[in-house]
Amino acid sequence: MAFLPPWTCVLVGCFSASLAKESNFSDLYPPLWKKSASQFSDYRVENGKYIIDPWVYPERMGMYKILVNKTASYFENIGADNEQNILWGLPLQNGWQYRTGRLADPRQMKGCGYESGDPLCISVDSWWADMNYFLCALPFLAAVDSGIMGISSDQIMLLPPPKDQTQFCLNVSSCQSSFPEPMSKWNTFYQHLQYPSSSFEDLLKYLWAAHVSTLKYAGKIFEDRLEYYSKPEANFGRSWCVAVDYLAVTLFPTTLVRTYEFQKGLPPRMLVNGDKAPFISDFTDFQNIVLLVLSFLPKVDNSPGSFLLTVWTILMKNHDVRKEVLELFQIILEIFNPTFQSVPNV
Ligand SMILES: *[C@@H]1O[C@H](CO)[C@@H](O)[C@H](O)[C@H]1NC(C)=O
Ligand SMILES: *[C@@H]1O[C@H](CO)[C@@H](O)[C@H](O)[C@H]1NC(C)=O
Ligand SMILES: *[C@@H]1O[C@H](CO)[C@@H](O)[C@H](O)[C@H]1NC(C)=O
Repeated sequence: MAFLPPWTCVLVGCFSASLAKESNFSDLYPPLWKKSASQFSDYRVENGKYIIDPWVYPERMGMYKILVNKTASYFENIGADNEQNILWGLPLQNGWQYRTGRLADPRQMKGCGYESGDPLCISVDSWWADMNYFLCALPFLAAVDSGIMGISSDQIMLLPPPKDQTQFCLNVSSCQSSFPEPMSKWNTFYQHLQYPSSSFEDLLKYLWAAHVSTLKYAGKIFEDRLEYYSKPEANFGRSWCVAVDYLAVTLFPTTLVRTYEFQKGLPPRMLVNGDKAPFISDFTDFQNIVLLVLSFLPKVDNSPGSFLLTVWTILMKNHDVRKEVLELFQIILEIFNPTFQSVPNV
């Protein structure tokens, strides 16, 4: 707080009264959390292997649920109920994609992901679903490989999607050989998770490095899927990828409450032609502003090794500046969310 100009402190003071609301964390869990698998024995077993179909929402969410559960002990001394687990960001984003129709077939061919067809189906034609696959399979399988999941690498097999199967790796060894860099970065994260000397900030650094590396590889494979979307939605997808790079260098703490509050700024439905931020009437002011800011990013960040990102990265290397930016984020979230949940300080 010491580095903020006085007016922001005044704002924080005004809002802190409404922050003390006692929260029930289970209200913040992603859709169908309770119905999702919660242990390996909830999945099918064939020839001594657990078989998971990541193209069915509760099975994919179950992978996150197990991951968040098995890593809970590493975060228990900094907060109750596993709230401070920084892996929450992943299932919460998957839940937002599901809730907003982003895991459904964008071409609406076979009813995959629709109420009228197969609502729990995750479509391989969805760009969001494909990108998320790698942010699910790789962290999950690397966790298995690092030994913290309590099963061995040859005990798990993911089912391939109905098409384009060669683009997806299905087990520890095939993901390691097809995506060596992100897999090794996830492994590094889990190693540091197990070192008692790792700080919360260290863990965020390794987590975001793995996250960014994963998106870099997956992004290249599925670029063409964006053609199935309306222009505003495709642009939003591209902007989102750029935005993640900026978020990553701030080391945004992807804990349960923080991610939940942050997500209130994301589009609550798919964008359609004619949607133009900040004038989308069924979006909140917060959602309109976030979308507006995101729409500028690719315009100012139009070159590889972008100048803006370089400057931003250098700025964020300064611990105090980074803390200030995160606090400013928090203030912005609070301004738009009078019911902001209280967040334990780390
Ligand atoms: C939290 O909410 C869940 C489901 O809504 C409920 O079962 C549980 O009892 C609540 N816990 C507290 C402490 O209020
Ligand atoms: C993890 O899962 C086990 C078995 O389902 C459960 O007993 C335990 O409470 C869970 N731990 C956390 C932190 O959620
Ligand atoms: C991993 O999956 C590949 C296909 O993606 C398969 O050829 C290989 O046998 C599998 N390995 C194990 C150990 O199951």
